[in-house]
Amino acid sequence: MASVVIVGTQWGDEGKGKIVDLLTRSADYVVRFQGGNNAGHTLVVNKQQYIFHIIPSGILYEDKKCMIGNGVIIDPAILLEEIASLAEKGLPVTPERLMISENAHLIMEYHRRLDQAQEASLSKEKKIGTTGRGIGPCYVDKVGRTGIKIGDLLDEGSLREKLAASLDEKNFLLKQKYREEPVSFEVVLANMLAYAEKLAPFVGNVSVELDKARKRGENILFEGAQGTQLDIDHGTYPFVTSSNTVAGNACNGSGFGPTHIDSVIGILKAYTTRVGEGPFPTELHDQTGEALQRKGGEFGATTGRKRRCGWLDGVVATDAVRLNGLTGLAITKLDVLSGQSKIKMATSYQLGDRSLNAMPSNIRDAARVKPVYEELAGWQSEINEVTAYEDLPVEAKDYVKRIEDFTGVEAVIVSVGPDRDETLLLKDPFDR
Ligand code: IMP
Repeated sequence: MASVVIVGTQWGDEGKGKIVDLLTRSADYVVRFQGGNNAGHTLVVNKQQYIFHIIPSGILYEDKKCMIGNGVIIDPAILLEEIASLAEKGLPVTPERLMISENAHLIMEYHRRLDQAQEASLSKEKKIGTTGRGIGPCYVDKVGRTGIKIGDLLDEGSLREKLAASLDEKNFLLKQKYREEPVSFEVVLANMLAYAEKLAPFVGNVSVELDKARKRGENILFEGAQGTQLDIDHGTYPFVTSSNTVAGNACNGSGFGPTHIDSVIGILKAYTTRVGEGPFPTELHDQTGEALQRKGGEFGATTGRKRRCGWLDGVVATDAVRLNGLTGLAITKLDVLSGQSKIKMATSYQLGDRSLNAMPSNIRDAARVKPVYEELAGWQSEINEVTAYEDLPVEAKDYVKRIEDFTGVEAVIVSVGPDRDETLLLKDPFDR
């Protein structure tokens, strides 16, 4: 048995969905521990397309149990839509297969409205480029101790009380600060009570369930959302999401003890992308950037926005190794680099006359650093059909080797195309 955490090493969208899907085959439990429906990934299985925002994609496997930990924030309408859409495709989601932590907080209509109103009110330079899903305002309430937990749905008295207190402030902001329509207490309450009835059977103690699973010797996969540079503490603040995306939060966000984690796999896209605003040192504003965007199909899964693209950033990668304690790398989308005559990787940053080996915490500095590149030879042949690592072009293997040497972490998975089969599994993290 083993407990494995998967995290994004960059700014999200590293192709976690496919790797999670692959490793889920060896897992008994799949757990989400942070974020909300700002995340999203699409899987195509037997020609049927599934889009996941909240429920772990492990739900596609009948013998897996999916857990939504306390660190996740839940928009109940979206969660119920996701459950209904799976049922329509012949995959009924039952309480035996899905448990939601009673401590997970709810994204309310006013969180979404405030997220969008706040973003709209910011100047171009200050906009975060959020997904508009209410993520920031919901986590603000959680930390401010005025949030509403999913467990509160089961207690109408408590729900009424908390909602009234919260709406008092939120409607003040919506009306007075943003000149928007207020939110109706009666409408929100009625919606929440309707959701409560449907969600109640799924609510439970995820921490206790995971502890029992661990003691039975089951394999547990913790599925991170977003990426390390979007972490609220360690990322390019304030251009970040509002949760801790690093591996340590797999424990906080699910109620699982840190001494029980066996390995942490970082998903590293072979180049870099970012959606939304904020510093991106290796961003390319030229034809190479456009080529990566096109060939990589780089559009946000949640918002459909075009992703900004650039070369691999070794500084970002080493930040991720340190912050997550990575034990293995899953290198994704290597095929997108096929056809490039030269491939570049940033190995440090220059800031004035200083050389930096970590992302500076000062956001102005982060926006000013100049990447120092190392150049590697590219390869011309397409690699999607390669099924054994040895058969990759020598330049592609050299690139992987250089990433391993630079980060000091071995590659355990190399992905050479979007399909399930286009994956080279070099070492299964669940094999101990
Ligand atoms: P929020 O999480 O909606 O508050 O957005 C904050 C920042 O995180 C914005 O730059 C978003 O584009 C980015 N973000 C949030 N979720 C994801 C994701 O799943 N992938 C990539 N970027 C994300």
